[in-house]
Amino acid sequence: MSKSDFGLIGLAVMGQNLVLNVESRGFRVSVYNRTGSVTEAFLADGAKGRNIEGHADLKAFVESLATPRKIQIMVKAGGAVDAVIEQLLPLIDQGDLIIDGGNSLFTDTQRRSEYLEEKGILFIGAGVSGGEEGALKGPAIMPGGPMDSWKIIEPIFTAISAKVNGEACCRHMGAGGAGHYVKMIHNGIEYGDMQLICEAYNLFKAAGFTAEEQAAIFDEWNRGDLESYLIQITSKIFTIIDEETGEPIVERIMDRAGQKGTGRWTVLSATEMGSVISTINAAVEARILSSWKEDRVEAAPHLQGPTAFQSGLSKEELKQKVHDALFASKIISYAQGMNMLRAASEQYGWGLNMGDIASVWRGGCIIRAQFLNRIKEAYEGNPELKNLMLDDYFKGILNASQANWREVVALAVTNGIPVPAFSASLAYYDSYREERLPANLLQAQRDYFGAHTYERIDKPVGEFFHTEWPEVIE
Ligand code: 6PG
Repeated sequence: MSKSDFGLIGLAVMGQNLVLNVESRGFRVSVYNRTGSVTEAFLADGAKGRNIEGHADLKAFVESLATPRKIQIMVKAGGAVDAVIEQLLPLIDQGDLIIDGGNSLFTDTQRRSEYLEEKGILFIGAGVSGGEEGALKGPAIMPGGPMDSWKIIEPIFTAISAKVNGEACCRHMGAGGAGHYVKMIHNGIEYGDMQLICEAYNLFKAAGFTAEEQAAIFDEWNRGDLESYLIQITSKIFTIIDEETGEPIVERIMDRAGQKGTGRWTVLSATEMGSVISTINAAVEARILSSWKEDRVEAAPHLQGPTAFQSGLSKEELKQKVHDALFASKIISYAQGMNMLRAASEQYGWGLNMGDIASVWRGGCIIRAQFLNRIKEAYEGNPELKNLMLDDYFKGILNASQANWREVVALAVTNGIPVPAFSASLAYYDSYREERLPANLLQAQRDYFGAHTYERIDKPVGEFFHTEWPEVIE
């Protein structure tokens, strides 16, 4: 029997669907799962009659692969990835390629790359996005690692990835942990997009829009400049009725958000690098606050706020204003994410290409959206673009939306409705366009208590001054 072109370890749903996808492009695939019964069930069901062979023994699995072997690991991020690598090492040969396709932390990927390089084993850390359906029909793939290792897997990954205008949503991102880093930022942006949509929903709900009306709004938005997978699924969510109660299912779902950690990693990395990703940060914190359900229920009767929602706007007017607030905030979130990618690229020497990243995110992944075409164009037109907000197209949208955006944030504040991501985005916008921020006072305070010195606006940059501030008498 001929040897397999590709091997995959870890047959959870994502793994199974990737295998089916690879096989459907004309490749022979071998699979292995730690719990053998999962492999058997897969062979008897989804993989039945297909060019897929399963193995209960890891050695037999490895031996079934054509060299250089291409083995993708799809197990839970963390220790499980290291464990599988250790099991493989005695069985594989120098020049074989291991691909980690899970949501691994990029520093783990960097560490594994170096470890495996010493042993002559090739390693690619690939971010894979698109959920179960994407894995089956075409995900977005963000591979990182040495170029010659990438070349070995490029034909298979290009074949299985989503396509937009005939272009594969899969490009080599950079060395080492670059692929997993880009996937991490993708997830951070995913958090931001989701939170912004939730804030729009919360305002609409307070203003008395029914689920049916919201389904129609999001459906309409999905046919305009907000067209995206997340807007589309949101519209569909509002149409589903709970069989037990007859209410829209969304109103029966517990308001306690889960998170696996990639959003939090994004915030940690931003803090470490001195990047500002206030929209994503607001989204991560909103999830955390939502998880304090019991505390919130306890606090609700004690802490006052406005009661009846008042806006003085028609539903049509509110819809348009919220649209503008959402679109403008989304632009800010991506501007922040792209700038963070650039900072990381400089710090880690990855040479990330912003246009390529936007291009890969256009299809297959969770944040896929029309608007990524515009981001791609913006960076292709000006690879040195300092901030997405300054691109002509995005600048136009922001300038045209800013009045409505402010009105929405003000309306939310007046009515006691939390809009942390809308308002964080607006504050970023207003801070970035401000020639003079109040940090002069902050510098004075630092100099007061710590003699940290300050620069003056009327003296050359880099010249530092100190004032003998009056003594504080307690
Ligand atoms: C994707 C998703 C995927 C996963 C998220 C969920 O791109 O396909 O991002 O990776 O669904 O990690 O993350 P949370 O559990 O943190 O929401």
